[in-house]
Amino acid sequence: MRKINTAVLVSGGGTNLQALLDAERKGQLPHAHISVVISNKKDAYALERAKNAGVEAIALSKKRLGGQEGFERALLEALNERGIELIVLAGFLSILSADFTARYPHRILNIHPSLIPSFCGEGFYGLKVHEAALSRGVKLTGATVHFVNEIPDGGEILLQKAVRILKGDTPEVLQRRVMEQAEWKLLPRAVEMTAKALCTKASNA
Ligand code: GRF
Repeated sequence: MRKINTAVLVSGGGTNLQALLDAERKGQLPHAHISVVISNKKDAYALERAKNAGVEAIALSKKRLGGQEGFERALLEALNERGIELIVLAGFLSILSADFTARYPHRILNIHPSLIPSFCGEGFYGLKVHEAALSRGVKLTGATVHFVNEIPDGGEILLQKAVRILKGDTPEVLQRRVMEQAEWKLLPRAVEMTAKALCTKASNA
């Protein structure tokens, strides 16, 4: 069966990447193959996770590449050289330009640690998202997988999963629960759904 060549973009610890790598190893991504992991941070532990799984790991430094434009040019080159058809942002903390996202319509997925449209957009990333949910006093939060367009966290929503907020939750405890109960379940499912749809589209073309 044809597999969709997939790149995962990371910036940090890579627990969402690990969920994807584990899913592929367990045969839960029959229509996708993670062929490269690319980070804007050379010391991202996510790159170690990729190497440990035998997946090519690349670090692209915005500074060395002359800023956002140079970074995106190098990123596009790396993706094209590898025939990448699907891009997954997994804890990737760099905003991609409208020009870049327009090249991959409905082919870039992002995992966001809230139920969009709550607690998302400019400045809402990592722990800040959970701090905002706790200070607002919501009883439910969760995670969202959405397609990426030029609006930060603004693309079409693909999957969501709700997670309870418990009395005494700290941002760290809540982040871990949202990862365990929502992010790490939703992202592999969304990648397989999207890859399967791309395969079907290609075979009907
Ligand atoms: C997680 O909160 C995730 O929701 C967000 O980035 C954080 C770190 O993710 N996208 P990871 O452990 O690097 O996958």
